[in-house]
Amino acid sequence: MKNECLMRTIFKIILLWIAVLLFSFSSFRQAEAVDEKSYSCMVCHGEQKVEYKGSIHDKRRILCHDCHGGDPTSLDAEISMSRRAGFVGKPTKKRLTFLCGNCHADRKRMKPFGIPTHQLEDYKTSQHGIALLERNDSNSATCTDCHGTHRIFLADNPESKVFPTNLPYTCAECHSDKELMDRYNLPSNTFEEYSQGIHGEFLLEKNDRSAPTCARCHGNHGALPPRVTEVEHVCGQCHLTAIDYFDQSPHLNAMKRREMAQCISCHQDHLTRKADVSMLGPVCTKCHEESSGAYKRGQQIKTLIVEAQEEIEEAKKIVAEAKLKGVDVTEDEVGLERAKSNLLQAIPKIHALNLALVEESTVRAKSIASDIKLRIHEILESFRLRKVALGIVWLFLFFTVTALYIKKKRADRAFDLQKEEIKRRSKPMQI
Ligand code: HEC
Ligand code: HEC
Ligand code: HEC
Ligand code: HEC
Ligand code: HEC
Ligand code: HEC
Ligand code: HEC
Ligand code: HEC
Ligand code: HEC
Repeated sequence: MKNECLMRTIFKIILLWIAVLLFSFSSFRQAEAVDEKSYSCMVCHGEQKVEYKGSIHDKRRILCHDCHGGDPTSLDAEISMSRRAGFVGKPTKKRLTFLCGNCHADRKRMKPFGIPTHQLEDYKTSQHGIALLERNDSNSATCTDCHGTHRIFLADNPESKVFPTNLPYTCAECHSDKELMDRYNLPSNTFEEYSQGIHGEFLLEKNDRSAPTCARCHGNHGALPPRVTEVEHVCGQCHLTAIDYFDQSPHLNAMKRREMAQCISCHQDHLTRKADVSMLGPVCTKCHEESSGAYKRGQQIKTLIVEAQEEIEEAKKIVAEAKLKGVDVTEDEVGLERAKSNLLQAIPKIHALNLALVEESTVRAKSIASDIKLRIHEILESFRLRKVALGIVWLFLFFTVTALYIKKKRADRAFDLQKEEIKRRSKPMQI
């Protein structure tokens, strides 16, 4: 009796549990159905619904009315898109900046996602923000110009407009528009120059994301042109050695007195080329006379570099030649690498404009290369001598063999004649 009672209770509990499960499952399904079928904004705006699908906001269950307001439960346009229901419609550029900005500045809302909340504050200080918010200039860029409207993705999604390899094209939408840029007296060839320079080549052609995008130098939201004194922090993110040596140069004080910009006075801001020694000259005459001590210093440094380069080139050639002749050059190839790496150390030292400092590395590079040249020369010389000696031995052998051959031939002939004579004599006379 007691057992039956217990069984019944357990049975009841199981039934209840199944009922709860079924109920919650059906209400879950219903919630999805509400999104798709009776969410009025989506019913009438199929095109935007499709556009929005898969975006980061869609994935985080942010809905149309979170941005546009209105009443998504009514299929009557008059009610659904009424001012009374808080309908915003298509927000103006200024309004949408705060629409996006305020939600993203809300620490509580953003906390679960662990993303920063200072975009709006940064934007307000940028040239873009000042133009739009203070001068009501709607030509300027706001959130949706850089991120898109309905198709917004996480920054590390290759579909995102701010994904590193897409970003320069996003900035170019406006910054390559000549008519627009002329109005602000800004150049319209920044993208063109950037894409022809080494940074653009690495990022856009070689897909190498260690090269800077526009935003890496100008900031994501605080898009200000880096001022002359701030260039150090811009280029210094990646080229620390060059900065270190620049700081030891007389140019440091010139920069502090604002008589020159730091890196870009020699390398340009956007059309940064692969650097080579031929720059030492044309780049300096931008500011120094050819008769000046400064220019001459540049030429002396150039000579040191060029001489080391030439010595290494010659050593390389002679090593290759020896290798073809079967000489073991493993050791020399290692030496060549050492010489090259010393030369590489000399290059950034150029920035210090200190002759002794550059010389320290070029002298080492040169002496390693000339040692290699000397060693290979000696080996090749002994090769040559050995060849001559071998030639003489061969020649001697050749003559000996020929002489023996001739002698043998002669002996054979004499023997044959003798045999014939004996044959002739031993024949009986026939009459
Ligand atoms: C019964 C259909 C219907 C419903 C429901 C509806 N809309 Fe609309 N919506 C329209 C039509 C029609 C237009 C006008 C199109 C035009 O002006 O080109 C419009 C225009 C808009 C615009 C553009 C306004 C502008 O200023 O250009 C936005 C934004 C918009 N709707 C968002 C919403 C949102 C958000 C909801 C849900 C709260 C919603 N709509 C519900 C039919 C509807
Ligand atoms: C994150 C905010 C946000 C969400 C969410 C959002 N929109 Fe928009 N929508 C905007 C902004 C901003 C514009 C204005 C774009 C412009 O000015 O070019 C806009 C424009 C529109 C327009 C005007 C036509 C157009 O395409 O420019 C319609 C219609 C519209 N949205 C419907 C919807 C619908 C339907 C949904 C839900 C599926 C939705 N929006 C979700 C921000 C949002
Ligand atoms: C001039 C272009 C530009 C404008 C304008 C802009 N952003 Fe961004 N935004 C970026 C770039 C670039 C990134 C960084 C992408 C990356 O990390 O590689 C970014 C990143 C973000 C992120 C990811 C978190 C973070 O800070 O890295 C959020 C959120 C964001 N922006 C929101 C906004 C909002 C809101 C606005 C308007 C107030 C806005 N953005 C305006 C270019 C812009
Ligand atoms: C209702 C609040 C809300 C509004 C309004 C809103 N967002 Fe978002 N946004 C979010 C949330 C939540 C995420 C998801 C963050 C995550 O998962 O990292 C997000 C993600 C993003 C991201 C990707 C961030 C990243 O980490 O790369 C960008 C960019 C972005 N939003 C831009 C905008 C723009 C532009 C607008 C205005 C058109 C806007 N948001 C309006 C809440 C909002
Ligand atoms: C929607 C068009 C638009 C987009 C997209 C845009 N900009 Fe701009 N930008 C402008 C306009 C217009 C100005 C001039 C504002 C002014 O000076 O009043 C400007 C100014 C600037 C300036 C200041 C120049 C100066 O010397 O005053 C910088 C730097 C800049 N933009 C960089 C960027 C970068 C980097 C991007 C991409 C991440 C970008 N912009 C995307 C329109 C745009
Ligand atoms: C390697 C860093 C770097 C990159 C990458 C870069 N810039 Fe610049 N940009 C600078 C520097 C430095 C200046 C000059 C600031 C000065 O002269 O004070 C500058 C100046 C500007 C200016 C102002 C021009 C003027 O004459 O006032 C604009 C606009 C600009 N850049 C846009 C862009 C755009 C768009 C991209 C991407 C296509 C980009 N920049 C990529 C470093 C960079
Ligand atoms: C985000 C990192 C980054 C920033 C910021 C950056 N660069 Fe570069 N830079 C690179 C990469 C990557 C390369 C290509 C690989 C290489 O040659 O080292 C490169 C190449 C160069 C070269 C050619 C080097 C060579 O081997 O011939 C010069 C010159 C140069 N950058 C100058 C600058 C200047 C000037 C600035 C500031 C206005 C700057 N870079 C900012 C990453 C950066
Ligand atoms: C006075 C002109 C001048 C200034 C200023 C200058 N450079 Fe250079 N830089 C050169 C020359 C010349 C070379 C090439 C030397 C060679 O390859 O023989 C060079 C080479 C480079 C290289 C490639 C060699 C290497 O170190 O890998 C980088 C990167 C570089 N500079 C970055 C910078 C940065 C960053 C700054 C700002 C601190 C800067 N430069 C300032 C003239 C200058
Ligand atoms: C953008 C202008 C500018 C460029 C380009 C430039 N310099 Fe200078 N340089 C200066 C200024 C300004 C001074 C400081 C003059 C002073 O102190 O009187 C200076 C000082 C020097 C000095 C120390 C002072 C002296 O007269 O002996 C040397 C050396 C020097 N530069 C070498 C070079 C070399 C080499 C190059 C080319 C690789 C170069 N500079 C490119 C502007 C420039």
